[in-house]
Amino acid sequence: AHELNTKFLGKSIFHFETIDSTNTYAKKIASEEVDGTVVISEEQTLGRGRLGRIWDSKAYEGIWMSIILKPNILPYRTPFLTIIAGASIANALNNLGVSVGIKWPNDIILNGKKLCGILTELSAEIERVNYIVLGIGMNVKNLNFPNEIENIATSLCKEGYDLSRVDIVREILCELEKNYLEFIKNENREKIIDTYKKYSVVLGKNIFVIKNDDRELVECVDINIDGNLIVKKSNGAIKEVMSGEVSVRGE
Ligand code: BTN
Repeated sequence: AHELNTKFLGKSIFHFETIDSTNTYAKKIASEEVDGTVVISEEQTLGRGRLGRIWDSKAYEGIWMSIILKPNILPYRTPFLTIIAGASIANALNNLGVSVGIKWPNDIILNGKKLCGILTELSAEIERVNYIVLGIGMNVKNLNFPNEIENIATSLCKEGYDLSRVDIVREILCELEKNYLEFIKNENREKIIDTYKKYSVVLGKNIFVIKNDDRELVECVDINIDGNLIVKKSNGAIKEVMSGEVSVRGE
């Protein structure tokens, strides 16, 4: 029952008690290691989040994991892998009885608070992807959070779910592999976007699009086939918002 039923994801696993950051380590070994290699650590001393933030990663409290992928795709397609990861993690948790949402582009939300984040890092040349590191951080057993994020972060334990980290990792790897292989084979993005939209907590809502110190209140009307937000500005104009230097917040 504890076998991992994947074809290539997690066939090679590097496991650490402690490390600076699994993403940093994964990037270091990526060129030498096989596609689908997983780096996982019980603790991170320098866990990194998006937009240069720190990711709190105490020992045994969560899943701190990075996945090395070497897809034969054009570099501009890589943001879609974050969309695939978000949809796969949401599916995995759903399969385990936890009903979560996704806050664009890639925060997994439980009861209105952030449960899990994804940090995608890319090494590419003009027309070729060398590797992608998909970093996943999920709060599982944490009961206390730093003051600054106490009201916006949560863990499975805190919300009353007692799940094993191994079971969650296995489920994530299975879901991710399924969706990833399908994407690589036929670039069937519609199905993944449909799944992603089903979990979206911003679709149809008024949100703030935040860039640097600027925030703009808009209505999120769609998420398109590239995984970008389609928003309606207060003057009625429709605009496409790409992930990256942007974050969104509910009104
Ligand atoms: C976010 O800002 O929401 C992304 C958080 C990503 C955290 C994970 S934990 C495993 C991997 N290693 C890191 O240093 N960061 C990612």
